[in-house]
Amino acid sequence: MVDVLLGLQWGDEGKGKIVDYFAPGYDIIARFQGGPNAGHTLYVEGKKVVLHQIPSGVFHDGIINLIGNGVVLDPVTLRKEAQKVAEMGVDCRKNLFISERTHLILPTHRALDKASEISKGNEKIGSTLKGIGPAYMDKTGRNGLRVGDLLDKNFTTQYIKLRLKHQRLLDAYNFNEDISAWEEEFFEALEFMRELNIVNGEYFINDRLSKGARVLAEGAQGSMLDVDFGTFPFVTSSSTTTSGVCSGLGVAPQKIREVIGVSKAYCTRVGSGPFPTELENETGEELRRLGNEFGATTGRPRRCGWIDLVALKFACMINGVTQIVMTKADVLDSFESLSVCERYSVNGQERSEVPYQMLKATIEPILSSFPGWKKDITGIQSADALPEQMQNYINHINTYLGVRITYVSNGPGRDQIIRLA
Ligand code: GDP
Ligand code: IMO
Ligand code: MG
Repeated sequence: MVDVLLGLQWGDEGKGKIVDYFAPGYDIIARFQGGPNAGHTLYVEGKKVVLHQIPSGVFHDGIINLIGNGVVLDPVTLRKEAQKVAEMGVDCRKNLFISERTHLILPTHRALDKASEISKGNEKIGSTLKGIGPAYMDKTGRNGLRVGDLLDKNFTTQYIKLRLKHQRLLDAYNFNEDISAWEEEFFEALEFMRELNIVNGEYFINDRLSKGARVLAEGAQGSMLDVDFGTFPFVTSSSTTTSGVCSGLGVAPQKIREVIGVSKAYCTRVGSGPFPTELENETGEELRRLGNEFGATTGRPRRCGWIDLVALKFACMINGVTQIVMTKADVLDSFESLSVCERYSVNGQERSEVPYQMLKATIEPILSSFPGWKKDITGIQSADALPEQMQNYINHINTYLGVRITYVSNGPGRDQIIRLA
């Protein structure tokens, strides 16, 4: 069976920590989409680690970590990350497997990402500049190079052909930064990649599933950044929702059991685009300060706001969420009162659905207010010790969504998580 764990908001919900927590219950942790735009933070023996390409099960002995075909892979990032985890005693050559169908991010994809963002001026997406969009464009445009191609003796010829094509596009953008140093790093990293376990991902996973293996599919980004269902065009270029698991790993839908949605107790977004509950005031700044809301990949300040139940309910519907993990509840500890958005006013009309075009100028959140708990919850270990005001907040969300919050995370540490009865 396959369980899915994914973000229900605009990314950075704390997926890495939660995957690390659940990992001992699984045989395989598999990334199914996204690439080094992801930054998943874990604390391993008190030490902070941010993973971009490697699945978050890597620090558990005896668990297989699989990079699925739906991912886009930057060999340079992978190599650096493998070195980082090696320093912590983990050898990726043993427990990391990569699908041969996984598309490669080339140095020119990164250059094209940057050139495209510059050309958009004020309308830029706020991309992480990791080459994600251009790499997925080459995949759907049927030009891209895949991990399996690395083992082909004609790889360099194929690379040069694609590079020339990219150069014509870069010329059209008037982009003339020298990327030769990136290319040098890239070719060095390819040598490293050839030593890794490159497998036929779909047979690899299905063979193990047929023998009873338990798989946890680890989402990157969040549902509201999905290329189809997110706030287009301010989205990423992959399917971040449950459907991406089937196409990104080669598993059939009936293999999927639980869909665990991760949501913060409030809401953040990094990069441009609509964010109806954004607080561009002192309260927003307070959330950023208390939640240390700065991007794990780019260091950019994250935009902060109240929890958006309209968007969360939409994400539960699209993903078929069966349970929710609420993270960063402790960040709300000091607030006198909390607000939740239950409806939008769209051009003056009340709506409880996410509109197709979510331009902030036309959307106002309609908020209800709840008393805060005003208590430090970071040391609490059992559900009955949670403050009553927090139980009310959770019950209200459960009722609105029709899906239960089953865990509350009350700090970044590995053990700071409470199972609700
Ligand atoms: P991901 O991309 O979904 O894995 O999330 P990120 O790692 O980008 O961002 C989540 C941040 O919140 C990280 O710095 C985590 O260490 C931190 N974090 C996760 N859970 C909690 C929590 O319950 N409380 C607090 N205070 N921080 C948390
Ligand atoms: P994790 O897995 C938060 C955002 C970028 C930008 C948009 C498109 O850590 O939750 P891209 O580089 O994908 O072309 O950028 O998506 N974005 C993320 N925001 N968390 C992420 O990943 C993100 N990955 C991309 O900021 O707005
Ligand atoms: Mg992140």
